[in-house]
Amino acid sequence: MNLGLYTQLARIEEQHWWFRYRRRLVRDALTNYGALSVGNNARALDVGCGTGGNLKLLSSFYPTVVGIDYSPIALKEARLKFPDAMLIQDDANRLGDIFRPQSFDLVTLFNVLYHKWIESDIEVLTQIHRILKLGGILLITEPAFPMLMRHHDLLDYGRKRYRKEEFRGLLKQANFNQFYMTLFNSISFIPALMLALKDRLIGTRQKLFYEQDEVRELQMPPPWLNQSILGGMELERQAISLFGSIPLGITLLGVGIKGGELNGV
Ligand SMILES: C[S@@+](CC[C@H](N)C(=O)[O-])C[C@H]1O[C@@H](n2cnc3c(N)ncnc32)[C@H](O)[C@@H]1O
Repeated sequence: MNLGLYTQLARIEEQHWWFRYRRRLVRDALTNYGALSVGNNARALDVGCGTGGNLKLLSSFYPTVVGIDYSPIALKEARLKFPDAMLIQDDANRLGDIFRPQSFDLVTLFNVLYHKWIESDIEVLTQIHRILKLGGILLITEPAFPMLMRHHDLLDYGRKRYRKEEFRGLLKQANFNQFYMTLFNSISFIPALMLALKDRLIGTRQKLFYEQDEVRELQMPPPWLNQSILGGMELERQAISLFGSIPLGITLLGVGIKGGELNGV
């Protein structure tokens, strides 16, 4: 992400519908996959924790929460937001060197694997498998549909978006043989597609225009709109909970269990 925008992200992630809705889905997934019954020593690691918007949620399930991020600016914001978390400034490409094998009950990656600072997504997932305890959970969200790639992704330091099948293959390759997956945020699909097409028509030369675009996308909508969208997203959330997964959305949510059984898709 454009480094100057971490502060702006830290300001909006508490209230903005996109972040609140993702936290609701994460809460649902953690509840469904047994996080409510973890013991007193259970430990969670949020890889690429950014400005810390998910740490408080994770700490409502796990007594110890560790966040790791490469960016000192992001970690400074995270520290202000959540002083109780153990925050480490280091590289997610070397998780296996930083943490001992089998040291976490949960590892989360929220929109991190697609980032251009990640050298090999399969290598990061394999290291996560190693540092998870047996029965531990990997919970991951990443941008979906390569055709939605646009200049905004590049400004966010994104290097790719994932196909569902590719994503499934990566989890399998990293030895998460049991997993669950859904797309989410279906209402953003058409607007995201239009913006991606607009980018292709306009080209990538008008840098200033795109930077203004990024700033606009990281701003809070008016409270009535924010609340209405969040309310509307409850329909999608119910569909996910009823059917297990939905076929459309701009983000993928995946859960993998190390050596465990899942009933999901
Ligand atoms: C798009 S932001 C997502 C932040 C947060 N997880 C969220 O979803 O709100 C991606 C984050 O991953 C971090 N990141 C990317 N590559 C990393 C790496 N190799 N090591 C540590 N952190 C990394 C970035 O600094 C950034 O904070």
